[in-house]
Amino acid sequence: MRLSGKSALITGAARGIGATFAKAYAGEGARVAIGDIDIARAEETAASIGDLAYAVRLDVTDQGSIDSAIAEVAEKAGGLDILVNNAAVFDAAPIVDITRDSYDRLYRINVAGTLFTLQAAARQMIKQGRGGRIINMASQAGRRGEALVAVYCSTKAAVISLTQSAGLDLVKHRINVNAIAPGVVDGEHWDGVDALFAKYENRPLGEKRRLVGESVPYGRMGTAEDLVGMAIFLASAEAEYVVAQTYNVDGGQWMS
Ligand SMILES: NC(=O)c1ccc[n+]([C@@H]2O[C@H](COP(=O)([O-])OP(=O)(O)OC[C@H]3O[C@@H](n4cnc5c(N)ncnc54)[C@H](O)[C@@H]3O)[C@@H](O)[C@H]2O)c1
Repeated sequence: MRLSGKSALITGAARGIGATFAKAYAGEGARVAIGDIDIARAEETAASIGDLAYAVRLDVTDQGSIDSAIAEVAEKAGGLDILVNNAAVFDAAPIVDITRDSYDRLYRINVAGTLFTLQAAARQMIKQGRGGRIINMASQAGRRGEALVAVYCSTKAAVISLTQSAGLDLVKHRINVNAIAPGVVDGEHWDGVDALFAKYENRPLGEKRRLVGESVPYGRMGTAEDLVGMAIFLASAEAEYVVAQTYNVDGGQWMS
């Protein structure tokens, strides 16, 4: 029960990695808000976890929605101790085909959404005066560029940079900001990724998924469960002296 009595908000937790983290945090005793734009799915996920989880309507591109979600969590759970900035979207295209709409969407959700949710959470944590933990979901995609993935990769590089700056600024309030950089994590998200690579690399559906799994030194794609240990550690008291870092949890794909 490493998170006993803590109040957590996980963005984009209706499904995928966020939903797995929510279950794990509840398992460690935290009260967990499942923040998502897909409120119906968020409610299903919360119900599947049990009494410690509840759904909160949240669109990370909308400042009013961010502020009211943080206020709702603070009211329902007696404050906010842990934020996991997990909501993000993916797109792929060759450089010559990137559209402004795709660029704006990815930057609004992955970068502005991360920064302004982090800001609102930090304001709440500073007001409470009991410190906190903020965990941003970066990616191996933020460690280096990829031919078809320029925009997404650059949003995740921005998340790594924001983690460093916010980590350094907020440490004086005993708010630890760190990030996790997963490699390739199987799940519904990868249905869309695989379809985009099928289109642009002229492959049958499922082939990219298989190839990326084979390319991981560990020998397979990751699962959301593979990330849980790091997500709990960074949210826990044990991470008190860990500041502004991005940890690779990727089966050996990237070294830094
Ligand atoms: N799956 C991977 O291979 C992988 C690898 C590296 C990093 N990541 C990162 O991990 C995180 C989770 O990935 P996942 O695979 O679980 O993704 P996912 O697509 O399964 O889940 C994303 C969730 O975010 C929600 N969302 C989208 N827009 C939103 C908005 N505006 N406001 C609030 N919620 C919104 C969606 O409804 C969805 O529930 C993301 O930050 C992703 O970039 C994933």
